[in-house]
Amino acid sequence: MTRRDFINHTGSGYMAMLGLGLLNAAPLHAMELPGKISGKKVIILGAGLSGMATAYELGKLGYDCTILEARVRAGGRVWTVRGGTLETEIGGAPQTAKFESGLYLNAGAARVPHNHEITLHYCREFKIPMEIFMNVNEGAYFYSEGTGSLSNQRTKIREIHTDMRGYTSELLVKALDQSALDEQMTKDDVEKLVAYLKDEGDLDVLKKYKGSERRGYKKQGGHGVNPPEPAPAHQLQEIIRSGFFHPAFSNIGEYTFNQQPVMLQPVGGMDAIPMAFAKRLEGKIQYQSEVLEIRKTQPGVKIVYKDKAGVSRELKADFCVCTIPLPVLKNIQSDLSSEVRRAADFVPYMNTGKIGLQFKRRFWEEDDRIFGGISKTNMDITQIFYPSYNFLGEKGVLKGYYNFHDRAAKLGELSIADRQKVALEQGRKIHPQYDQEFEHSFSLAWQKIQYSQGGWAEYSESARKKFYPALIKPDDEIYFAGEHTTYLTAWMAGALTSARAVTEALHKRVSQS
Ligand code: ALA
Repeated sequence: MTRRDFINHTGSGYMAMLGLGLLNAAPLHAMELPGKISGKKVIILGAGLSGMATAYELGKLGYDCTILEARVRAGGRVWTVRGGTLETEIGGAPQTAKFESGLYLNAGAARVPHNHEITLHYCREFKIPMEIFMNVNEGAYFYSEGTGSLSNQRTKIREIHTDMRGYTSELLVKALDQSALDEQMTKDDVEKLVAYLKDEGDLDVLKKYKGSERRGYKKQGGHGVNPPEPAPAHQLQEIIRSGFFHPAFSNIGEYTFNQQPVMLQPVGGMDAIPMAFAKRLEGKIQYQSEVLEIRKTQPGVKIVYKDKAGVSRELKADFCVCTIPLPVLKNIQSDLSSEVRRAADFVPYMNTGKIGLQFKRRFWEEDDRIFGGISKTNMDITQIFYPSYNFLGEKGVLKGYYNFHDRAAKLGELSIADRQKVALEQGRKIHPQYDQEFEHSFSLAWQKIQYSQGGWAEYSESARKKFYPALIKPDDEIYFAGEHTTYLTAWMAGALTSARAVTEALHKRVSQS
């Protein structure tokens, strides 16, 4: 019996497909582990998503959890900057955001993939209102600095995408027509593939790419004697020579599993997610409590921390769940195993930075008809994100850059004023309106943000092999959680998945002891 026969025979296609593992049970359910526990104390280091989700899930099972959080707020790298937010980077000057009420910058996590079930599960459980996050916008721009005929000018993304699909389809058709592939395919197969490529590339009857309405018009059609004026295609060579094959322009938003439409965001700012956890953990989070030492008491743990008055204090517990990002953990005195300490020393973290630019007018919407999405460039700013909220409103906050690696390190080294200067100088090449409409900015470099010191764990193959194994098992009574303990690094789903994994492992151990 084939799988299809089995499914057809059972009469319940859905149940059968579930049984065969062809479907996930949807929606993901609340975590329900058997067995209530009492009298077990757990200290959780860090009130980011992984720490709070661990406290939430262990709390449901009866564990007595205390979270030590160094900051005045919960959420860690899930951080929404609004008017009044104050931040002083390591070695930097204090900076206060002046964004108008209702406007914000998601400084860390900013988009929820539709296939991150665990994140959506908690949003559903906490009834967090969600809206669409526009990650792809064919109406936004590419800007390639260089020497080609299309360089140093903004070009609508749809023009480059359509032209490239056209030319590559035409080339493939040509190869097929020359029967290059006829050993693998029948004539009928080839005909079908050619028909597909004609459609994919919008080729003409002669199977040539001569431009397409998909790339937009010089002038859109209107009433009466106003027919549309098509815009001619760019030449293939000029696209190539203008630098549009630089990785800066790769089509991540459409092609990457974690970024394909539809993406979502909480209404009003990403911190709705950490705030929902914090609300359910009232009295369990001790803020402004900076961990100084992590000690093993065999059995058990002792955490030495500095409270908000600067006084050194101790807390003891049966277990500890440490979610502290590795670049921070490496500078904390501890009895952690040498394996864990090596991981803390050597797992690489991403340099990454963002700037929020407030403008008095949403010129990208009014003048350029850009509603959300991303413009991309090979300049240091790398990307401009248009807000996916308050459409057609008055003012708006753009993400004037979001960059990585060396570019983020370079901009991160600049003063706050110089970062703003670079964001404006480069951004105005795409949007000359910057000059007239800019009001103020707030920028950050995650590698310089205290208690994070990096965007996310960026495992190389060898780091994954050498260091990761130490982080996914307990070190005596100390467990590790956070995006860095998963294969879903850089995503909230990683943090949440790790929380569930630790909850399950710890509870199993306690239940069996
Ligand atoms: N998950 C991060 C992002 O969406 C890296 O950009």
